[in-house]
Amino acid sequence: MGAAARLKVIAPLADAFARRVSYLRVSITDRCNYRCTYCMPEEGVALVPRPEVLTLEEVARIVGLLARVGVRRVRLTGGEPTVRHGLIDLIERLHALDLDDLALSTNGHTLAEIAPLLRRAGLTRLNVSVDSLDPEKFKQITRRGDFARVQAGVEAARDAGFRATKINAVALAGWNDDELPAIAAWAWERDAIPRFIEWMPMGGGSLFAPGGFLPAAQIRARLAAVFGPLLPDDGAGLPGVGPARYLRLASDETRRVGVISAVTEPFCDTCNRVRLSSTGQLHTCLARDETIDLRAPLRGGLSDEEILACVREGVAGKAEGHAFQPTGCGGPKKHMVSIGG
Ligand code: 5AD
Ligand code: SF4
Repeated sequence: MGAAARLKVIAPLADAFARRVSYLRVSITDRCNYRCTYCMPEEGVALVPRPEVLTLEEVARIVGLLARVGVRRVRLTGGEPTVRHGLIDLIERLHALDLDDLALSTNGHTLAEIAPLLRRAGLTRLNVSVDSLDPEKFKQITRRGDFARVQAGVEAARDAGFRATKINAVALAGWNDDELPAIAAWAWERDAIPRFIEWMPMGGGSLFAPGGFLPAAQIRARLAAVFGPLLPDDGAGLPGVGPARYLRLASDETRRVGVISAVTEPFCDTCNRVRLSSTGQLHTCLARDETIDLRAPLRGGLSDEEILACVREGVAGKAEGHAFQPTGCGGPKKHMVSIGG
């Protein structure tokens, strides 16, 4: 039993709509070695000065505190979390909290080298972004990505013992909508689970997204056109089922696919999550710009109880629903790269 398994959960964290917070996404850096078109503008986003970024000790303290009030699943994100020095140490520290799930979202660029290290440190699961199987198109979407490396990374993750790796593809009309069935088959062939994500317009996103918005209904239609009818699936047996709604092929029920439809079919009523930015801002909604600053309390020497009081106050103000607009207008101003999905 890990040290923290003995920690008693005190008054679980919940918002004003009785939604319990059991899942925390932690962005450990705003830096990324890719420049995906749907995630950040061409000229990039101003990088946060390093002193403003939480140390990994500070990150571990906040995660430990949230674990005391009911967080059972944690996902590390970025930017690209693998570019942050000390990632493996952080995973080891968080592993000691004995969470139900300790996962990482990555672009997969260095996975071929680090998958065994991640596994040994105690990471339980991986999500990897794969928006195209065509190396040229992959490069255009990610601006500097390398498909061959990512493919090797996904295979290395499986060889290192990771199971049910999720393959995330943002569905973009005119770019990869013709590839969605091929991406699904590519994932299945590698024992992974494909998930198609509706593009979420952030940071004036419509200005630099390469293609059009593709609604979830269209994503399903593109898949059904190739694979035949899709049946609803409750995701049973899938570790860490998140906001994706799962479907399986009527022709082969072992083949499952997730669709994340934040914009056209919101799932806010079941939202169980909060997000911590690399600068220590707690975001209670991906699609809203309001945050609760935890860095000043951390660095001001506040006690655990005082910091938890800040968290509770912030969560109590969590909005009922999101503010995404398919047009990109009026949605959140922050960029996805600053919060990691
Ligand atoms: N809309 C939807 N998904 C996005 N991601 C990054 N930006 C966006 C966006 N604007 C995805 C990444 C990654 C996951 C963490 O979020 O591709 O798979
Ligand atoms: Fe980097 Fe991920 Fe954003 Fe692409 S989507 S630029 S890999 S953070």
